[in-house]
Amino acid sequence: VSYDTCSIAAPVLTGRSPRMAEVRRLIDKAGKSRSPVLLLGETGTGKEVVARAIHCTEGSGPFVPIDCSLLGTLLETELFGHARGAFTGAVINKTGLLEAAEGGTAFFDEVAECPLDMQAKLLRVLQDKEIRPVGSLARRRADFRTIAATNRDLAAEVEGGRFRRDLYYRLNVITLRLPPLRDRKEDVPELAQHFLRRHGAGQRVTPELLDAFLGYDWPGNVRELEGCIQRLVALNSGPELQARDLPTALAGALQARGDGFLPVLGSHQSREQAPRPALLSLRDAERQAILRALDHTAGDRGRAADLLGIGRTTLYRRLKEYGL
Ligand SMILES: Nc1ncnc2c1ncn2[C@@H]1O[C@H](COP(=O)(O)OP(=O)(O)OP(=O)(O)O)[C@@H](O)[C@H]1O
Ligand SMILES: [Mg+2]
Repeated sequence: VSYDTCSIAAPVLTGRSPRMAEVRRLIDKAGKSRSPVLLLGETGTGKEVVARAIHCTEGSGPFVPIDCSLLGTLLETELFGHARGAFTGAVINKTGLLEAAEGGTAFFDEVAECPLDMQAKLLRVLQDKEIRPVGSLARRRADFRTIAATNRDLAAEVEGGRFRRDLYYRLNVITLRLPPLRDRKEDVPELAQHFLRRHGAGQRVTPELLDAFLGYDWPGNVRELEGCIQRLVALNSGPELQARDLPTALAGALQARGDGFLPVLGSHQSREQAPRPALLSLRDAERQAILRALDHTAGDRGRAADLLGIGRTTLYRRLKEYGL
């Protein structure tokens, strides 16, 4: 396996709002130091993009993403590696993720999901800057920069006893909070253009559509906007993206605002005549939205997550939760 270095994948960070200017300033500062960085922000606000940008500021060594929500099931050997003969089937020496990050950045994504026993092991590695692969007596150097990210309130996790305080202090040297998209709506047009260039074929956004975008709160943040543009591109064949192809959630929100904007129920019906959909619990609504997205993408979970505006790991968690 080889990991990204910056020559291949310098990330694009779009947005000129004052909030993003501040984020850029902090990326630059954090990038020039080797201090640990903790990235906080709602889902889809760009934590992974920012992590890569920080790593690329001084640009050396590998960038190794580690999804901490998988560490419970992931064998310890993934993280620490193992020696040949450590157990039946260990026929070669295997390099762990932490060793692979040597000289670069280990990105602990969804860090709040890290199980407590793993937190203890991680803390040791960060303190000693060395690891011992499973079944090996020799220690190996593991000196890397840490960037951790979570959409939870990590301080509250510490207070609740679900996250080790000592590990929290070690990870949280520079804190960078990513603002939700609803707090920097001035970035929406530029982001929409950016995703249209990436996913579209020369289409334009109509002023009507842009209005709709600006009136919406984007709970799934930038990822939701990207998914929305992808959807509009997929459903549209003309030179302009149409508001009538908007996802139900977005159209529904506009409708609730009373913009007289009814693409989903059909624009000929007035609001009074429109059948009132049965009220669903939030859980049922979420379950249905997931099923519909999976149906739409023929079971492709990655694309379904994009359409829903949530992260893949969040989708996997929900699928498990709902027994889907
Ligand atoms: N400022 C930005 N400019 C361009 N693209 C962005 C920006 N912020 C986010 N994106 C894009 O939005 C999507 C979501 O970003 P990212 O994966 O970094 O979010 P996240 O904060 O890690 O979300 P989660 O908590 O759900 O994992 C990605 O496709 C990313 O490229
Ligand atoms: Mg992420």
